Amino acid sequence: MFNPLVHSTGLSYPHRIVSSAWIEHVPFGMTIVELMQPRLLVELGVYLGVSYCGFCQAIDQLGLETRAFGIDTWEGDAHSGYNDPAILDELRAYHDPLYGRFSSLLKSKFHDALDCFDEGSIDLLHIDGYHTYEAVREDYSSWLPKMSSRGVMMFHDIRARLPGFGVWRLWEEIEARHPTFAFDHQYGLGIAAVGSEIPEGLAGLFAAPAEERSKIRLYFSQLGQRLSARLLTDSHDARLRELEALLKSQAPDQALCLD
Ligand SMILES: C[S@@+](CC[C@H](N)C(=O)[O-])C[C@H]1O[C@@H](n2cnc3c(N)ncnc32)[C@H](O)[C@@H]1O
Repeated sequence: MFNPLVHSTGLSYPHRIVSSAWIEHVPFGMTIVELMQPRLLVELGVYLGVSYCGFCQAIDQLGLETRAFGIDTWEGDAHSGYNDPAILDELRAYHDPLYGRFSSLLKSKFHDALDCFDEGSIDLLHIDGYHTYEAVREDYSSWLPKMSSRGVMMFHDIRARLPGFGVWRLWEEIEARHPTFAFDHQYGLGIAAVGSEIPEGLAGLFAAPAEERSKIRLYFSQLGQRLSARLLTDSHDARLRELEALLKSQAPDQALCLD
């Protein structure tokens, strides 16, 4: 059985709180690192680094010997939008001093990075790139040989039924093929044990009966919601500061206080 009193890393407050449709999954992302203690962790699709820095924070806090790689072109795509190249510089400035001793950000197409990894070497792979059925299916099948015997893949957006999104369709195929656990909140996150064995720390999760699964889902979605609330408060504060500056520029002689 998964016991949050024993595996409590997901209760830690994430340091990297910036805009992301993954923010509510960070508590589970940190927990799976604790449960699996992966030797090699890889993420496909880093963007501003919310999920990836959550994994790295857990590795750091737990003092694990995990090696981690985050792969992205940082160019964006038709679903997540196209990026300002400066986002990678900002992410490196944040990430490198904190996590550079065990983690590397690789600027590459996913497919071009395959040769950097040995067959059977990756314990935990998070797939969060382009979300068409064809693209995510290609990510899954091209990276599958790289997974270790205790390998676990995570997929974001398994519940996103938006035009052009097809992770849900691949997820139905994966559920028929591998032991799985799925979260429904924030577009859904699927976890699949794709190797020949289920990692010991995850056995309780995959074996959980329906009632226990519901409670695990509720626990992690509630932990995630406080992070969305924080993002919302931060964006309201930023908007308020902008309005304050605008008013001051238009009426510089008047005392203004919007706090
Ligand atoms: C949804 S975002 C990742 C979100 C991130 N995991 C987070 O926590 O917010 C998807 C990213 O995948 C990248 N991407 C999409 N297809 C790619 C490919 N074939 N190779 C490299 N990067 C890709 C995009 O540049 C984009 O930054």
